[in-house]
Amino acid sequence: MTPTSEPVLDSYKRAAIIGGGVIGISWAGLFLARGIDVVINDPRPDIEDLVLAGLEEITPALAELGLPTENLTAGLSFEADLGKAVADVDIVQENGPERLELKQQIWQTVEQHAPAHALLATSTSSIPASAVAVALEQPERLVVGHPFNPPHLVPLVEIVPGEKTSEATVEQARAFYAALGKKPQVLRKEVPGFVANRLQSAIFRECVHLVAEGVVTEQELDDIVTSSIGMRWAVAGPFRTFHLGGGPGGLPHFIEHLGSAMEANMWPILGNPTFDEATVAKLVEQANEAFGNGTVEELAAERDRAQIALMRALGSTPDASTTRA
Ligand SMILES: NC(=O)c1ccc[n+]([C@@H]2O[C@H](COP(=O)([O-])OP(=O)(O)OC[C@H]3O[C@@H](n4cnc5c(N)ncnc54)[C@H](O)[C@@H]3O)[C@@H](O)[C@H]2O)c1
Repeated sequence: MTPTSEPVLDSYKRAAIIGGGVIGISWAGLFLARGIDVVINDPRPDIEDLVLAGLEEITPALAELGLPTENLTAGLSFEADLGKAVADVDIVQENGPERLELKQQIWQTVEQHAPAHALLATSTSSIPASAVAVALEQPERLVVGHPFNPPHLVPLVEIVPGEKTSEATVEQARAFYAALGKKPQVLRKEVPGFVANRLQSAIFRECVHLVAEGVVTEQELDDIVTSSIGMRWAVAGPFRTFHLGGGPGGLPHFIEHLGSAMEANMWPILGNPTFDEATVAKLVEQANEAFGNGTVEELAAERDRAQIALMRALGSTPDASTTRA
């Protein structure tokens, strides 16, 4: 690989991807396209076939992002022994199953074998770094680097330090993900579910309620979101939106006049659905009706193309000057 024009990435020649599933493959594709060699550690016997097929699937999106994809797999290797896999890497990105004990075991092995300078990050979507690091000798080295699926495409990476994660580790993670072309956001407090997934859960709860109650169908609800708040939130988040909604008085005026009505009239009536049998049957039936005329792969590719077009319009595509030739 030729040298990068992104100075931070000069220090990242080789990465270990632990767990080559959905998230591991996506990170691997992005790292490889950024010129970082990747070694995959995953006990699945068919892991090589799975990863190669997965990389082939995401290659068009990487190319659409302006990243080089020729000979993408030239720097790819596989190593079943975890200690050996991390022995000579600059970054370890762990994407194993979402099980605390397993992640604790994995990281105990990693810290024994990874070089002292290596960035140690877990993609976990719900487990705090503090919990994973309890048995570590150097808990200051571990940080959550939580991507939004798929990591090769969606800009956000939530960086969530544990109680003992050092500021140096947080800064190392922030600089690394930014150099990859991501939009890292450091959380100020360790909370379960982090931020983006908590928001998704809150909104999805109401979505399920509205469909279960028969107010709208899934397709109608999706159309309402993509033609209003979804589109708007891509350019101005909820707080900026309501600051502007408050007119010249901004957010203080909004809270006084509309926010208090929201608190009094809306918050108490928001739904609290469950995934009981009848609700699930309704959701599944409507999903088949609305989305059943294409395979998930086709629908995902279509969504990703539109997502890239939107990112391009918003100027959030990775800066071509930071890619490797
Ligand atoms: N899928 C998402 O939307 C998403 C988004 C952000 C973060 N995450 C997080 O990423 C991680 C992986 O999620 P996923 O969706 O890719 O799961 P996945 O099931 O697709 O992949 C997990 C992989 O880990 C492998 N594995 C099992 N035991 C292992 C071990 N001991 N060592 C190494 N690898 C092992 C499995 O064989 C599998 O290939 C989880 O922590 C999850 O919370 C997932």
